[in-house]
Amino acid sequence: MEYGIPLIGESFPELKVHTTKGPMTLPEAFKGKWFILFSHPADFTPVCTTEFYAFQKRYGQFKELNTELIGLSVDQVFSHIKWEEWIEENLGAKIEFPIIADTGEVAERLGLIQGNSTNTVRAVFIVDPKGTIRAILYYPAELGRNMDEIVRMVKGLQVSDEYGVALPANWPENELFGSDVIVPPAADIETAMERKGKEGCLDWWLCHKKI
Ligand code: BEZ
Repeated sequence: MEYGIPLIGESFPELKVHTTKGPMTLPEAFKGKWFILFSHPADFTPVCTTEFYAFQKRYGQFKELNTELIGLSVDQVFSHIKWEEWIEENLGAKIEFPIIADTGEVAERLGLIQGNSTNTVRAVFIVDPKGTIRAILYYPAELGRNMDEIVRMVKGLQVSDEYGVALPANWPENELFGSDVIVPPAADIETAMERKGKEGCLDWWLCHKKI
């Protein structure tokens, strides 16, 4: 059966994976939680090592956001284990989240082998508690990810869900509106006209508010 690569708004595909913490079925294993599946090109590579250290440093922050992490590369589980040992012994960080040991099948299903490379790109899937893919990022091999942005994305998506609002650029430090959120566009003319000249509205289609 032919599948397209998973896209934002779609259900995360059901996948049986082998990880450093044993077999898991996704997204079932994280039911009721947000999770971030991130791929890296290969174990024992410099940028990936800094990323694992950085993800682990923020693991507590992710957990506070009811969010789990799971890594993935096309490497064998004993390679992941040896690399985790190296990170703990040399950098003092014990990797607490699972890493998928993929033969290439999962990477293929998720569309992680791109361009001429045989390695997985640096992808990030942010998946909500219903198993819906809410955001996807791709980074090239030569650029490590910004973990604070990934934390910001989870926070932003959770605020959006809770309050039914959108978030401006660089939220919560937007250059125009500070930590205010964006009110959804008016759905009818009456609401649009009510918003004209209202406090917090620069125009009927551009309103912000505090939460
Ligand atoms: C790195 O993690 O350093 C890396 C991995 C694959 C290609 C280039 C850099």
